[in-house]
Amino acid sequence: MKKILVLNGPNINMLGLREPGIYGNFTLSDIEKAILHLAKELNVEVEFFQSNHEGEIVDKIQSVKDKVSAIIINPAAFTHTSVAIRDALAAIAPMPAIEVHISNVYAREEFRHKSYTAGVCIGQIAGFGLDGYLFALKKLNSLI
Ligand code: DQA
Repeated sequence: MKKILVLNGPNINMLGLREPGIYGNFTLSDIEKAILHLAKELNVEVEFFQSNHEGEIVDKIQSVKDKVSAIIINPAAFTHTSVAIRDALAAIAPMPAIEVHISNVYAREEFRHKSYTAGVCIGQIAGFGLDGYLFALKKLNSLI
């Protein structure tokens, strides 16, 4: 069975409490439940991982080489800073990854307009809340 890793970066565990005007009221657990529901329909296996630590995210990406078929990644704040996460995604190429952002980062502060990681992903989805993860899952499922 196809398997997709859903990887969330720092502070995504704080959804629900965190800046609800920007991120909404749903929690990380709500995202995971919605993904699981769709994954069942699509007959895809999913694995969830969230970390607030850059090195742990790099370790996780390295560890799934040959173990999953694709990655949905919200690197959160590391999007705008992390050469290490970009290099980890590049290192496991050609595994396809889609970058997801809950908020429309391009309508926010300028420092959020730059993504170090999007260039090594097949695409980026931003601004559609929880649905962005579901779009990414559908798209990756059709590609792998
Ligand atoms: C985010 C956007 C980032 O700029 C921010 O640091 C996050 C969440 C999003 O999903 O909208 O933590 O990745």
